[in-house]
Amino acid sequence: MIPLARPVLGEAEERAVIEVLRSGQLSLGPRLAEFETAFAARVGARHASAVSSGTAGLHLALRAVGVEDGDEVVTTPFSFVASANAIVFERATPVFADIDPVTLNLDPDAAAAAITGRTKALLPVDIFGYPADIPAFERHGLPIVEDACEALGGRYADGTPIGSRSHPATFAFYANKQLTTGEGGMITMGSAEHKERVDSERNQGRAPNMDWLDHDRLGFNYRLSDIACAIGLAQLDRLDDLLAGRARVAALYREALAGSAVTLPCEDTGGNERGWFVFVVQLPHGIGRDSTIEALRARGVQSKPYLPAIHLMSYYREAFGHREGEFPVCEDVAARSVALPFFPQMTEGQVAQVAEALTAVSGS
Ligand SMILES: Cc1ncc(COP(=O)(O)O)c(C=O)c1O
Repeated sequence: MIPLARPVLGEAEERAVIEVLRSGQLSLGPRLAEFETAFAARVGARHASAVSSGTAGLHLALRAVGVEDGDEVVTTPFSFVASANAIVFERATPVFADIDPVTLNLDPDAAAAAITGRTKALLPVDIFGYPADIPAFERHGLPIVEDACEALGGRYADGTPIGSRSHPATFAFYANKQLTTGEGGMITMGSAEHKERVDSERNQGRAPNMDWLDHDRLGFNYRLSDIACAIGLAQLDRLDDLLAGRARVAALYREALAGSAVTLPCEDTGGNERGWFVFVVQLPHGIGRDSTIEALRARGVQSKPYLPAIHLMSYYREAFGHREGEFPVCEDVAARSVALPFFPQMTEGQVAQVAEALTAVSGS
């Protein structure tokens, strides 16, 4: 079976972990600051804070920009559920707006129309690694928290790396991501005040100069261990290769699926560059997705529906009264999207096997 994802880990990661184990300092040790500094340098950010997951990063970033009980945050319904959940953690309301049918990112016009007097922030997502139209969102003068969990390696239209702007951007390091620490995340940001608040709140609300059991604000345990940071440093060293591997596989898929009836991920346009994370195709209308996934499995290919619309998940229907028909572009795309196997070490033969299977079972 060709799996959906597979991390690239080797001797460098093994050595890095063993070093930390032997040092005896498994958390809050030197690897934390080293990983943050190296990551910030990599994406051109002024500050970076490592956290235990992308979700934790989104939560702390929203708190840092001042999102509170009763606020509204405009965001996309076509994302992994964590981007909306993080808003709900603070008892704020995710106000969804429809997506652009080509980039699949939050549509700037729809987002503008969803802004009200209660809107505290905007939370665009760089879905499938393609940069959201950040300059369009910046024009509103509202705080932005960017969900870049899928977008390491991407670049905005002006050529600067995703994560390098002044607003907080959150990355994720789960095992299927471009860079993995097993579980983990990173917030990049331009503001020293944001960094100070994030660092305190990820560590039980403790200021850096405080004693172990002294806490001057509410906080969480969202720390990333030195073991994970050491893996992250080793992964950063090989990030160029990892990204190049993904781009190579994406190009092979494009070639193998050219002329097929499935809709491929949009090409980079206007200077925007995707940080390749997943290869998601949309099936033609009228082709059953569940049966396609089953038929692919029978041919030795793992795939999954990716992503379901957030507003139609049971929690969001019940808590916020969402129904079908509210965001037609998102709902149409979400109903037809399938993630195919995608990882840097995929061979040409594996890509060909997936493409042949998909062409055979989706009638295209
Ligand atoms: C768009 C998006 N947001 C948030 C997250 C959450 O990241 P994590 O799983 O590290 O909490 C993910 C991870 O899959 C994601 O893809």
